[in-house]
Amino acid sequence: PMKQRLLVVANRLPVSAVRRGEDSWSLEISAGGLVSALLGVKDVDAKWIGWAGVSVPDEVGQRALTKALAEKRCIPVFLDEEIVHQYYNGYCNNILWPLFHYLGLPQEDRLATTRSFQSQFDAYKRANQMFADVVNKHYQEGDVVWCHDYHLMFLPKCLKEYNSKMKVGWFLHTPFPSSEIHRTLPSRSELLRSVLAADLVGFHTYDYARHFVSACTRILGLEGTPEGVEDQGRLTRVAAFPIGIDSDRFKRALELPAVKEHINELTHRFAGRKVMLGVDRLDMIKGIPQKILAFEKFLEENPSWRDKVVLLQIAVPTRTDVPEYQKLTSQVHEIVGRINGRFGTLTAVPIHHLDRSLDFHALCALYAVTDVALVTSLRDGMNLVSYEFVACQGSKKGVLILSEFAGAAQSLGAGALLVNPWNITEVAASIGYALDMSPDEREKRHRHNYAHVTTHTAQDWAETFVSELNDTVVEAQLRT
Ligand code: UDP
Ligand code: G6P
Repeated sequence: PMKQRLLVVANRLPVSAVRRGEDSWSLEISAGGLVSALLGVKDVDAKWIGWAGVSVPDEVGQRALTKALAEKRCIPVFLDEEIVHQYYNGYCNNILWPLFHYLGLPQEDRLATTRSFQSQFDAYKRANQMFADVVNKHYQEGDVVWCHDYHLMFLPKCLKEYNSKMKVGWFLHTPFPSSEIHRTLPSRSELLRSVLAADLVGFHTYDYARHFVSACTRILGLEGTPEGVEDQGRLTRVAAFPIGIDSDRFKRALELPAVKEHINELTHRFAGRKVMLGVDRLDMIKGIPQKILAFEKFLEENPSWRDKVVLLQIAVPTRTDVPEYQKLTSQVHEIVGRINGRFGTLTAVPIHHLDRSLDFHALCALYAVTDVALVTSLRDGMNLVSYEFVACQGSKKGVLILSEFAGAAQSLGAGALLVNPWNITEVAASIGYALDMSPDEREKRHRHNYAHVTTHTAQDWAETFVSELNDTVVEAQLRT
């Protein structure tokens, strides 16, 4: 167990706040892979610093929320609406997020985006400075400060300017794109330099780490070494730390009477049909339209399967103030409506599409009754849904269809059916192959994935990162 104090800094706190009255708040678990991975880390003396997902303009509200969050070891950073608009909706989710996932900038908005770029980048830096101020207030000598994700690329620099002795790590939960993509970003150099202020920089895969190092060599002209990036004798260590999940938490949930009952209900409800499952935030990177179109093609080509298979798509609402996400929602609804109209009967439809989140136990039950999980991300840092599905398939041994563009393809590639999500013909064929797969082959593939998911945990991930960070700092002191 780690006894050292750890300050975890991420834009999104593990709980989001909902206001119930002038000074009363309720807290809900936040969605997304970053939060679930960090919730899977135990035995750490950690405090969280981040945004609670709401704007709280009044002091009474701020004081009450600070108190409520303290019970969860969380410390809020208060961002006003204008900053949220420019920093979170704008620079983070309309510029960095699509760019890091190779989707480019939003087409129709490109000119507007180009014009507002500078003011959004300024807001991004201001927001990062606000996070730094809160860290500084709570920092004690010896603490490890672990910054997370693309929202906080400016934070390592802010922290080191405040105190060059602070142990600072930064981890990216998304892909880091090829330097050819990164170099289109007007703020390309400033962002790289501020990340390099950290002692240790981590990515999910070796490819992302390599892309980052080559961005630093090509764009900044620095020297890349096997250890990381060197600038005038100072080394920033760069390495891959593939994330995992707390698989025991899922296995334990499946033993609960309430979850077992839920599993029975679902089994009964879908008796006679194979269950296919998608669980994604409703995000462009998840390839949801591509997935649904592939399913349509499968139904088109296989009339005999039409009343024997159902696709359950859980689409968790996310970043709903960003126009691109609103467009995606209507696009997906249109496709689902069309396909259900085309292949539905008076008593059944082929696609159940839900615009909502599920609680943990309902999610586990769904994973457990699924025959084929469909993960068709166009790009994805890791994708924990694929890990969670595998963890819940101990008895069913269902099939995972997985995009080759998800980080998870590197760890679950041997057990999953890997697909190019853009190739709808290939995905449709994989659906057919998965539904017809022999129990022997399913068992063999499942065993492979299960062994990985149960041995590469979120706990190991965090411990490895933090101990590497400590070692890096010691080595740097020995060099000087
Ligand atoms: N998840 C959630 N609410 C839901 C359904 C899923 O919070 O209603 C969780 C899911 O269990 C998983 C995470 O959201 O841990 C998604 O992580 P992933 O890495 O797959 O993708 P991300 O959302 O981070 O892009
Ligand atoms: C991804 C990002 C996380 C983010 C999550 C949910 O997993 O890497 O940083 O927290 O999506 O998105 P949101 O914008 O709601 O925090």
